[in-house]
Amino acid sequence: MKQEVIISNNLQQDIEGAIQRQPHDRLFVLTDTTTLRLCWPLVCSMPCFEGAQMITIGDTDANKTLDSLTYVWTALQQGGATRHSLLVNLGGGMVTDLGGFAASTFKRGIAYINIPTTLLSQVDASVGGKTGINFGGLKNEIGVFNCAASVILSTEFLHSLDHKNLLSGYAEMLKHGLISDEESWAELLRFELDSIEHSTLTIDHLATPKANDNGQSLYRQLGELVAKSVAIKERIVEEDPTEKGLRKALNLGHTAGHALESLALEQGRPVLHGYAVAWGLVCELYLSVVKCNFPMDKLRQTVHFIRKNYGSFAFDCKQYDRLYEFMTHDKKNEGGIINFTLLGGIGDIRINQQATKEDIFEMLDFLREG
Ligand code: GLY
Repeated sequence: MKQEVIISNNLQQDIEGAIQRQPHDRLFVLTDTTTLRLCWPLVCSMPCFEGAQMITIGDTDANKTLDSLTYVWTALQQGGATRHSLLVNLGGGMVTDLGGFAASTFKRGIAYINIPTTLLSQVDASVGGKTGINFGGLKNEIGVFNCAASVILSTEFLHSLDHKNLLSGYAEMLKHGLISDEESWAELLRFELDSIEHSTLTIDHLATPKANDNGQSLYRQLGELVAKSVAIKERIVEEDPTEKGLRKALNLGHTAGHALESLALEQGRPVLHGYAVAWGLVCELYLSVVKCNFPMDKLRQTVHFIRKNYGSFAFDCKQYDRLYEFMTHDKKNEGGIINFTLLGGIGDIRINQQATKEDIFEMLDFLREG
């Protein structure tokens, strides 16, 4: 299940190399409408894409559906794809998840390569072989574990991301720091994330993004943090590819986070996934203090960073029952019991931790009132 993850300093060379290492008869490229406009121009003139057949689906998570999947399967079939064809997924987590699933199931599986274009997909979705679609109102309900042949990561794509989307991905990086080691966590809290927004980035032409010296250096530093973050995820996935145990560490912040994300969606004020994860981390680190003696000062420092960058999620105690209900529906629960991943300290992972309704309401009080 080992997959090749390439931290790219030379996009053309790395993409050409990855495609060459997968002998194929026909090449297909999957994008969504946004990545077709913003990211495809950065790579389309590469000789390796000559003759590639394009497949484009609608953007955003709303299109991670059976209909879009059918559209991709149909495009592969009508484009003459065989078991020896290759699919390149160029996009965020929606494209890499859906494209990975389309490739994994077409003619019982063809090879695919991920080129993730958002920070969130670079540090999380594109790595580790989780593929799938939303179904029956539930996120990622149908899917398989099947790794991409290669995943190519480049900060070049991040220049077209707005600050909110950078923050959304950064929350997963923070999670990786927390489950790994103190130095990684502290480095993430130190990084001047704010300054990326204020660096005078100019995109004169989509194919030649330019930032001033400070901007370039910030993106370079971000690239180094991304590489370290992905290495943490890779280590975990390698040990437990199908989430029987250790991989549950990657769910830190997600039990509460998914509930907040679902509530926000239900109330017609959707939030980006990473924002919900950041607030979920506040909740679950608090629970970690209560149940596993996670150090209070580390909680305070992390909460300060999250409040400063992500603000807070407005809700009141009338919504606690609904949030609790969302948590009971989390597909990671076992035997109807809400299952949290908590920490006894930074890097000290405690999976399968249970909490009472009272604990959970206290945790929500902490999120509201700090
Ligand atoms: N996104 C969590 C995982 O890949 O397991």
